[in-house]
Amino acid sequence: MAHCLQVWLLYLVTLLVALNFPNSQARVKKENSVKSAVFLSPKFEHEPGSVVNQVYYNIDFPKGHIAVKNFYAEVVDEAGNPIPLHETYLHHWVVNRYYQRKGVEVPKHNANLGFQQSDFILVNNDGPCQNVLGQYFGLGSETRRTDTHVPDPYGIEVGNPAEIPPGYEERWLMNVHAIDTRGVEDRLGCTECRCDLYNVTVDEYGIPLSPDYAGGLRCCYDETRCRVREGFQSARRGLYMRYIVTWVDWDASVLPVRIYLLDVTDTWKKFDDSTGRDTTHHCLIEYDVESCSASDGTYDGCTDTKRVSLTMPTGGNVIYAVAHQHTGGIGSTLYGEDGRVICSSIPTYGGGNEAGNEAGYIVGMSSCYPYPGSAKISDGETLVLVSNYSSGRRHTGVMGIFYILVADETPRPNTFVHAPVEKHEEMTLPVSLFGVALFGVAVAVALVVAYHKRSEGEDGYQSIVM
Ligand SMILES: *[C@@H]1O[C@H](CO)[C@@H](O)[C@H](O)[C@H]1NC(C)=O
Ligand SMILES: *[C@@H]1O[C@H](CO)[C@@H](O)[C@H](O)[C@H]1NC(C)=O
Repeated sequence: MAHCLQVWLLYLVTLLVALNFPNSQARVKKENSVKSAVFLSPKFEHEPGSVVNQVYYNIDFPKGHIAVKNFYAEVVDEAGNPIPLHETYLHHWVVNRYYQRKGVEVPKHNANLGFQQSDFILVNNDGPCQNVLGQYFGLGSETRRTDTHVPDPYGIEVGNPAEIPPGYEERWLMNVHAIDTRGVEDRLGCTECRCDLYNVTVDEYGIPLSPDYAGGLRCCYDETRCRVREGFQSARRGLYMRYIVTWVDWDASVLPVRIYLLDVTDTWKKFDDSTGRDTTHHCLIEYDVESCSASDGTYDGCTDTKRVSLTMPTGGNVIYAVAHQHTGGIGSTLYGEDGRVICSSIPTYGGGNEAGNEAGYIVGMSSCYPYPGSAKISDGETLVLVSNYSSGRRHTGVMGIFYILVADETPRPNTFVHAPVEKHEEMTLPVSLFGVALFGVAVAVALVVAYHKRSEGEDGYQSIVM
């Protein structure tokens, strides 16, 4: 029954999208049509101070051999209202691809065990931080105003039956890490996972934390609680990740891209025969920014600059790039070996109260769409990744990650009807919510149906992704 509803829903959404997309279809021309669907994650429950860091297996995802063109996600409540970051801070959501042996289900708990079994094969991106940053899609607080569309004629190829091992099927999981900061004593401290505010001295595996570890993911794991102001009361509520996947059916006109996530904390060093240094990548994901002033007051004008050199064994044409930073971030740049800028990605801070414009939070990151062929990385080229933070005050658990899409081929010149010179300094909210507005009717239908579908099946998976 639920399955029939779902199929029907997808059909309806696709139909509505098709009706709503006459101009886009005209632009895509003879190529196949752009499809889009709205989904909800399983429900998670939040109350003031609470942390959810869950992995949802086998999330809804378009079926078949397709090229993903965009993946948009945000937190909504049970009525479908977007929830602002000062209520629920979205630390991150990430979506990973995996192969699941048919007829065998992953244990609901103890996901680490599940991942080591041959029934379950993670399909990581092509980046160097495979074990910890293997996702295909993912963002944090910037999710509402960061342009992530893959420009034509490119796409992220998934669901290719020739790649799926016999006896397996391709599936997707979503890791959601969200912190309810309603009524907390120190909002920034809670979002930076400061251990004292969580009253945490051991990590989620019971391993004691070093006194030097002041904050980060090891202190804000699932079911921890950030300190709330005395006497503050607010309702427990159910929330969802609402996500919109946009895709086209795979065909020869689509050029595939590889996904790389580069991490400024990667401890890898360029191999040097004379020292015999370790060349395995070890990505810490997080780092701390120390305050440049002794008093930890508000002292403006100091910048913390962190950099790493990373060699790309296989190069190609960068067709999209964007950085991920936390509060305090002031920009990140990826340079080529000769010092040329491949992409500079700059945060936008909100200035209001509403979802997508929350004051003090990074609500968007600018992304780069280099003209195809203009941002080429050579095989074996050593890139430099720089991540800048304001160090007027201390920050714990910040990140400096670059997500880039790389293609082997450049399109033949006649593929373009319009010159694909795309520049996205900043995405305005109406544009980022374009999909939601466009599919208004479909969204309403989707919500009603999906709530029925999701009313069962909340569970307590452990985080394994980050
Ligand atoms: C912090 O944790 C300790 C031990 O785990 C506990 O005894 C104490 O009551 C906690 N403090 C607060 C404020 O929750
Ligand atoms: C980062 O900081 C360095 C040194 O302060 C500066 O040269 C560079 O332009 C900054 N880059 C970005 C993207 O902010």
